Amino acid sequence: MAVADAAPVVYDPFSWEVQHNPYPTYERLREDSPVYHNPDRGFWALSRYADVLAAHLDAATFVSSKGVTLEGNEVGQPLLILMDPPEHEWHRRVVSRVFTPRYVLGLEPFIRSVAAELLDQFTGSSGFDLVEEYSIQLPLRVASELFQIPASLRQSVHLLSDRLVARTPEGTATDDALSAMIELAALMHGLVVERRKNPGDDVISLMITAPVVDDRGDEHFLTDEELAHRFLELAFAGHETIARLIPNGAVALTWYPDQRRELVNNPLLIPNAVEEMLRWDTPSHYQGRWSTRETTWHGVTIPADQRVILVTGAANHDPRQYDRPGLFDIYRKSDRPVSFGFGVHLCLGANLARLETRIAFEELLARFPEWGIDERGIARLRSGNVRGLAHLPLVLP
Ligand code: HEM
Repeated sequence: MAVADAAPVVYDPFSWEVQHNPYPTYERLREDSPVYHNPDRGFWALSRYADVLAAHLDAATFVSSKGVTLEGNEVGQPLLILMDPPEHEWHRRVVSRVFTPRYVLGLEPFIRSVAAELLDQFTGSSGFDLVEEYSIQLPLRVASELFQIPASLRQSVHLLSDRLVARTPEGTATDDALSAMIELAALMHGLVVERRKNPGDDVISLMITAPVVDDRGDEHFLTDEELAHRFLELAFAGHETIARLIPNGAVALTWYPDQRRELVNNPLLIPNAVEEMLRWDTPSHYQGRWSTRETTWHGVTIPADQRVILVTGAANHDPRQYDRPGLFDIYRKSDRPVSFGFGVHLCLGANLARLETRIAFEELLARFPEWGIDERGIARLRSGNVRGLAHLPLVLP
């Protein structure tokens, strides 16, 4: 069904209108322009679920090493998300060997204790900012524990990570954000050097001592620089996304109070509700790629050497995949969601993200079964591809 609107759709992920509510634009992309071209910003966009999935699964045609954002500032950094096979494959293997589902599950008691500590201070209060005081704090504290960041450095890490996600009014990374990235990598490098002298049982220490066979067939121990970047991406890739998923989910539960009540009465429904939160208003709205050859989709040809973005947020609302996609439904059976990407770059932190978000809501709903929102205090984060709130003031009865 084509959407009845004479003017051709314009999709600019940096526009405030799109950041405020991208879903009407996504609908027009999927229906009228599933192979969209924006020559001004220099990108193509695929928005239908089946196309996004197919492109994720074809890592030879849609590579990541030429940037995964529209800005492309990140190119050249030795991060997993920016590597292509075969180099990507063995680097990723090192992480998956130590950052196993079992290891992650073992973090549950710690995560729960942090969530409880963060929330208990608001018992009896009239409300709190769910983002500033809860959803940002929880992943930061978990990452500090997971990677044994010394208490003396946590404040610097926190300040650097705040600077790291800062964006200009247009949503592009500020120069200071790029300096923060370099400072953070240097700090991580220092921690790696220290960890070599005094290894512990954290993920980084485990990676230091684990040899891997690289793509040339040689045995390889990770260098300090490689370890510092594994450290950086594991500690920070997930921080920003979990911090935004929790408030996006809390907004859904405010809009659907009957479903919130059902979760309070039956917390076993929370894991599926988290899947629905990931679909309904996912934090990571597009994944960037670069085309290595010409491809044709729905009669439209995307040439080689072009930036192509896979619009996860649009795919998650494709009615071809999800019945009545605009509705939030904690009973929905999510079918092969693309919220964590797919294929070779599938999110390495998906288990941790699911666990943290589940616990975040279990602890929140157990203490505060009802809340309202002070709409005057809501603020949206300005960002290219992370969709979420900077402030969400909850009002407690
Ligand atoms: C709600 C939370 C999260 C969301 C929505 C999310 C989303 C994603 C997506 C969409 C990708 C694929 C990127 C691409 O294809 O270009 C990705 C990759 C990745 N994520 Fe996450 N993520 C989350 C949490 C985390 C956490 C907690 C960690 C770390 C502990 C993490 C670490 C990574 C890493 C290292 C990659 C790169 C994997 C690779 O390139 O092989 N993520 N994530």
